Amino acid sequence: MKEAVPKGETVLLHFARDKFVAVFGRSPVAAAAAPSRVNLIGDHIDYCEGFVLPVALPFLTVIAGGYNNTGQCNVMSVLENGDEVKTSFPATTHTTQLKPGEPAWANYIKGVLANFPSEVNGFDAVIVADVPMGAGLSSSASIEVAMFTFLEALTGKHFDPVTKAKLCQKAEHEFPGMPCGIMDQYISAMGRKDHALLIDCRSLESFHIPMDIGEAVVLVTNSNVKHKLTGSEYPQRRAHCEEATKMLGLSSLRDATPGHLEELEKLKADKLVIMRTKHVINEISWTEKVSKALAAQDLALVGELFYKSHDSLSKLMEVSCPESDQIVEVLKTCTGVYGARMTGGGFGGCVVSLVNKKHVEEVKKNIMSHYKGNPTFFICQPSDGARILKL
Ligand code: GLA
Repeated sequence: MKEAVPKGETVLLHFARDKFVAVFGRSPVAAAAAPSRVNLIGDHIDYCEGFVLPVALPFLTVIAGGYNNTGQCNVMSVLENGDEVKTSFPATTHTTQLKPGEPAWANYIKGVLANFPSEVNGFDAVIVADVPMGAGLSSSASIEVAMFTFLEALTGKHFDPVTKAKLCQKAEHEFPGMPCGIMDQYISAMGRKDHALLIDCRSLESFHIPMDIGEAVVLVTNSNVKHKLTGSEYPQRRAHCEEATKMLGLSSLRDATPGHLEELEKLKADKLVIMRTKHVINEISWTEKVSKALAAQDLALVGELFYKSHDSLSKLMEVSCPESDQIVEVLKTCTGVYGARMTGGGFGGCVVSLVNKKHVEEVKKNIMSHYKGNPTFFICQPSDGARILKL
């Protein structure tokens, strides 16, 4: 049975420091870490200004480096399989303006550098990570927020976490070109150990919700269907929601009510636009309910809403895939499972489920024998958000 095991901050930091010494021939002077995330509920609603409820994970991106007294930034990244990739681009004090380009992976860091609210001299850096790639656990936001935090450590200029999240989101829009919402960067900047974070994506206020769930755990099953959101599907979902907002004359779909669905019918809105709107209205209310049910330890209600949310993401938002649907169906038949749903952007990636501790091993075995793919598991351990690391 494949388990995803986090390496831990100390191991990753040592690895990054040793790599830096080996490649650049001196010790790094600044380092930072930022986590990946799993979303408990509230998907495809951050860009509609709704509520989301993610948790920061112990899978991290760690960056270590130092100034190099040149106008160039040289960055090396160690990939999941141990391969090393390198890129160089001008520092932001240089006359050249940074632009997106090749290699594609460098856009995440160049975008953050271009959006960092202060000039940065040339530097060398090493990036290491243990975030499972293409699993929908937001490896991109983890790189962006780690990079921003690394630049804070390097320059000594610090920014509040919400500003950091907004600038990293802007970087993702402008450089990799993915029109994401704010959830991933926000939770990576603001996560807290043992807590989920209820984020109001309109006011950008957030509330830490203790993950004190008694006899249960959140089991995450990676379908290992690699998800990719830079294609056209994600932007299309956003466009459908924007179209509904415009037709209804609202400032965002957060304000839509069930009555607006009838209005869209009358206005002869596209069927898909109506389906997406229905998902958004329901998912926002379910997210608020789950955050209250978690606080009240009403696990049965959390589970019921997980199932409803999955059904809506699968049938109305149409962002699930047969493999994630199958995992949820298997979970429905298992003893000790309160509920399950796909999580994140979709089109592959992970399923989150609320499972009684006593039954976890049996549940995993069931998935192994009934799921046609090759799953990986981990228990979600809510962790801290981005931080500067001591070297
Ligand atoms: C991706 C995006 C987020 C959010 C989720 C779906 O992870 O980056 O902003 O829209 O999909 O909830």
